[in-house]
Amino acid sequence: MRTKPEMMSQLRPAFSELNLSEGFEFDTEIVTNEIKEDCKPLLLSNDQLTTIMKDLNEAINNGLGKRTNPSSIVKCYITYVQDLPNGSERGKFLALDLGGTNFRVLLIELGENNYFHMDSEIFKVPEAIQIGKGTELFDHIAKCLAEFVKKHKVDNSKALPLGFTFSFPLRQVGLTKGYLNSWTKGFNCSGVVNEDVVRLLKEAIKRRKGLNLQVTAVLNDATGTLMSCAYKTIYSKNCFVGLIVGTGCNACYVEKVENSELFDGDKSKPHVIINTEWGAFGDDGKLDSIRTQYDREIDEVSLNPGCQRFEKMTGGMYMGEIVRLIIVDLARQNKLFEGRISEQMKTRGAFGTSFISDIESDKANYRETLKVLNEMGISDPSLVDCANVRYICECVSRRSAHLVSAGLAVLLNKMNEKSVTIGVDGSVYRFHPYFHKLMVEKTKQLTNPDINFDMMLSEDGSGRGAALVAAVAVRDESPKINGHSAV
Ligand code: BGC
Repeated sequence: MRTKPEMMSQLRPAFSELNLSEGFEFDTEIVTNEIKEDCKPLLLSNDQLTTIMKDLNEAINNGLGKRTNPSSIVKCYITYVQDLPNGSERGKFLALDLGGTNFRVLLIELGENNYFHMDSEIFKVPEAIQIGKGTELFDHIAKCLAEFVKKHKVDNSKALPLGFTFSFPLRQVGLTKGYLNSWTKGFNCSGVVNEDVVRLLKEAIKRRKGLNLQVTAVLNDATGTLMSCAYKTIYSKNCFVGLIVGTGCNACYVEKVENSELFDGDKSKPHVIINTEWGAFGDDGKLDSIRTQYDREIDEVSLNPGCQRFEKMTGGMYMGEIVRLIIVDLARQNKLFEGRISEQMKTRGAFGTSFISDIESDKANYRETLKVLNEMGISDPSLVDCANVRYICECVSRRSAHLVSAGLAVLLNKMNEKSVTIGVDGSVYRFHPYFHKLMVEKTKQLTNPDINFDMMLSEDGSGRGAALVAAVAVRDESPKINGHSAV
């Protein structure tokens, strides 16, 4: 007979004494009932998800409508990207990718027969710069760019086209003009909100001197991901959604021009990519019924209280912190670690989202869980503690995957295409062991049954995508090769 969880907690067997078999599978039976009870609000039923879908659908429609957009929470920014790559793109392109603690510069070459070559370099964006002056941020970008150009001996004699992936809510008014609506994630630089970030970039490039570049596109990482996936699925031509579940969370999709009432671009083309910025969903209270005390706490102490509530329940910048807050709360109530909490565990941000992936990747004997807990200063957790911690992680990651699935189902139902490939990127999707599976399962349940979809890891979406948007823009400036657009 299985030992009762409560008893096991009292016995606190040392790990060396445990004789668990290899091929371990997580068994929720030893998770204590009170932990299960406390985690219940994190488990969303299909009824709850359906209500969320209805509200999100309405919010997206409001974002698309001319009259409703100004007060809409989900902004549905027009990207001015109307053509997907069709394989005829050629040449060398530079790409900049800014969206998190790392900034990347890429040099991409596209050639015949889908030839693709990429050199890239990662640069840190120190925290002081992330929350400092805007001009310093753009000077930092220009400095990294200059270093890259020098190191990689980029031919500077003619202006190279450059795609700029700027992964923040950007109200675009053209392919090369976009005003920052608000900072998200860990950024809060002064003097950038309501400014055209392409102008700020160009000015910084000018200040640097000696850089010969032509900014041909500014885009979001979700758009880049869609483009990058579209390049890989050139023959099926059905990549219509780009999704990011990384530090932040966002999605874009291909919408009919006629439905996008604010679109003032080329109306002879039938489609345009819409950057939903669904991370802001719930900022009007629409998620209040499912937000927990931990979500409220995360929000209150964040750089942008009241903003990006959907993102704060789904993105990697927040998931680890949600787990930490739950652990601390439950330990304080003596439900974990016999009430002992380490300093590390009390430290904001100390439990990274990568720990969730580590813990849920555990194959044998809670080895990874133990490692993580040790790293967090908990030296002798019991077997039940480990199971409980893993359960908490599962509930938090499952909730994220299910909320994102609800969002995807809204887009799929809305487009009503019979077959769609969803390009996905972001550290949560990439490194969590079951995120993909959880999303496929739940999206299927929530999507109209006659719609087929695939989810595809869009490798390096934000970087490659920037070069591809730049390449398509340059391609379309020259006489068309095959005479029709690919969307
Ligand atoms: C930003 C989006 C971005 C997403 C993923 C969010 O915080 O608002 O523009 O696509 O993060 O990086």
